[in-house]
Amino acid sequence: MADHPLITHKLTVMRDQRTPSPVFRQLTEELVTLLAYEATRNVRVTPVEIQTPVTSTIGVRIGDPRPLVVPILRAGLGMLDGMVKLLPSAEVGFLGMARNEETLEPTTYAERLPEDLSDRECFVLDPMLATGGSLGAAMDFLFRRGAKDVTAICLLAAPEGVAAIEKQVEGRDVTLVLGALDERLNEKGYIVPGLGDAGDRLYGTV
Ligand code: PRP
Ligand code: URA
Repeated sequence: MADHPLITHKLTVMRDQRTPSPVFRQLTEELVTLLAYEATRNVRVTPVEIQTPVTSTIGVRIGDPRPLVVPILRAGLGMLDGMVKLLPSAEVGFLGMARNEETLEPTTYAERLPEDLSDRECFVLDPMLATGGSLGAAMDFLFRRGAKDVTAICLLAAPEGVAAIEKQVEGRDVTLVLGALDERLNEKGYIVPGLGDAGDRLYGTV
């Protein structure tokens, strides 16, 4: 869990129900940039030799093979720009998922991912980890295509969702990077205290 006053401050504004969509969107992008810094701490790099104006030296380059960023639509889309600003060499895949608000089960309505992920570092973006159903289904897609190394970035998580993911991915190389770990889920499967419905707050009720 990223623990930093900048993150807590931005999350506090996002949690406030009076915060309008444009500010909520802006803060989502800013927050993902801060969390991405932590999430990419061990990103794969290739040594490269370069010439400075003074001498030759060895540096590193990210992007061989290109990392894959996968936002879970809709709400994860709000995190994409912030992530690719920090990781411009990344390729982007898409998963569209909607949680049935009665059963809390996710259904997948869109999928566009590379066929073979066996050599790719994957970064999944979803602001909310509630029951873990959506993120768990996204991880299944990635593992079925051979992914070995998956990092998920979520702005808020419930302990129930974290436990569900830990159980599902036991023995796999999975990292969860969280802006905050909240108290619990309520009877409707919403994170408490949470911030409400992230997709609706980003894009409106459709
Ligand atoms: C929200 C959120 C996650 C999911 C979390 O999406 O963005 O994807 O719910 O809940 P879970 O952990 O219980 O699966 P939603 O299904 O509301 O779709 P949206 O992004 O289009 O609003
Ligand atoms: N999805 C959201 O957008 N918010 C929650 O609190 C739970 C699921």
